Amino acid sequence: MKKSDRGAVIAGNWKMNNDRVQTRELISGLKPLVESADCDVVICVPFTNLETALNETAGTNIKVGAQNCHFEASGAYTGEISAGMLKELGVEYVILGHSERRQYFAETNSTVNLRLKAALKENLNVIVCVGETLDERENGITSEIVSMQIKTALKDVSTEQMQNIIVAYEPVWAIGTGRTATADQAAEVCGTIRNVVSEIFDVDVSKKLTIQYGGSMNPKNCDELLSKEDVDGGLIGGASLKAKDFAAIVDSASKN
Ligand code: 13P
Repeated sequence: MKKSDRGAVIAGNWKMNNDRVQTRELISGLKPLVESADCDVVICVPFTNLETALNETAGTNIKVGAQNCHFEASGAYTGEISAGMLKELGVEYVILGHSERRQYFAETNSTVNLRLKAALKENLNVIVCVGETLDERENGITSEIVSMQIKTALKDVSTEQMQNIIVAYEPVWAIGTGRTATADQAAEVCGTIRNVVSEIFDVDVSKKLTIQYGGSMNPKNCDELLSKEDVDGGLIGGASLKAKDFAAIVDSASKN
């Protein structure tokens, strides 16, 4: 299967931004700009905006995702939200293992795997994030780090469940820094990810896998990044908070 058959997915990660009024405004600005997109369009909003986002996007081509979920179905986990709770709201996607969760909230490869399995049980589509730090890149261990993250995150996942998985390659040094990986750097690591998935499962599963790039992707650099065979989409932070910028990236993915 080639890139053109996999179909692109452009997802916005709003992070901890926007109240409900801003959520309504941003979505109403976005709707007409992406209505004829030839790729999947997802917005991952804070928990408190999920219901607003679901209402505002009802009947449109914009899908709604959360930015995390817990690995248990219920219980004494103060402050956590389960995959089942997301499913019950009508949420279709969840981001897991974002580097900000790893960096600030003690997320590890193993807890990412637990959360991922819980999300798959509820039939959510998971965007699982991997990526190296600047230190790791400079030490020449990017592919080892990313391979380990992928292997642990996908432990005990079935071939069938892989249909619900998207991998986002997000080099930590490129997130929110304005410093983007070059298209060649992004393509190289996305290629490594596809090879690792092919080793764990088989070539067919790896060819069907959607792999996104994330890290300072914007309307100016998206064409080049998305033109690469192994880059099937983007996970967009800052630029997803502006309807025009996000829509420009959706347009680029629709063409590429
Ligand atoms: P920026 O696009 O703001 O660099 O954020 C990327 C990101 O972390 C998406 O998950």
